[in-house]
Amino acid sequence: MKLFADTADIGAISALADLGLIDGVTTNPSLVMKSGRGFKEVLKEICGVVDGPVSAEVAATDFEQIMKEAAVLADIAPNICIKLPLTLEGLKACRALSREGCKTNVTLCFSASQALLAAKAGATYVSPFVGRLDDINQDGLELIRDIRTVFDNYPAIETEILAASLRTVNHVSEVARIGSDAATIPPDTILKLVEHPLTKKGLETFLDDWAKTGQKII
Ligand code: E4P
Repeated sequence: MKLFADTADIGAISALADLGLIDGVTTNPSLVMKSGRGFKEVLKEICGVVDGPVSAEVAATDFEQIMKEAAVLADIAPNICIKLPLTLEGLKACRALSREGCKTNVTLCFSASQALLAAKAGATYVSPFVGRLDDINQDGLELIRDIRTVFDNYPAIETEILAASLRTVNHVSEVARIGSDAATIPPDTILKLVEHPLTKKGLETFLDDWAKTGQKII
């Protein structure tokens, strides 16, 4: 499963890229606001440190304007992936951009039927939001299972499931178990994936015992 960093924080992205842990980045207007940075400027920096797709979300909602914004965003770097809302206008733009060979990510997906339409529109990725469904007492992971089932029924579908709105380490392991193609995860949660109390305790014991041997490797 590909791991994307769900952030517009260039410091966090650079650190994760240095560790070799991420395959791409997703941003959204709220994350850009949180970063306090200029959108196009920060996108350019992110594309400079990450080779994989960097999702940049349009702010327009009508087809003509979406297409104009997409052209500006796509011009920033070759690895920009245009993020579009799951609306009729967004899907129309997705179809047009896909035909032009542009990578697309259809966002704000909350049902398998919506995901099917994103696939029909030729989306590179569809982003189902797990945590926001959990927030309203629905099963977000069930949505990933449903979309996986639907997509697997039609092998011609090339759209990848990009599980989004993931809040916990458990969300990440569960979407991987289901077979999501990719997951976008906040940086602090990516770092938590490495943690296990027995790894920590085991390493402490090994280091203590090694010190007792009085040996050195170099
Ligand atoms: C990513 O593409 C989404 O915009 C993001 O995962 C949403 O996460 P949130 O529901 O925690 O805001």
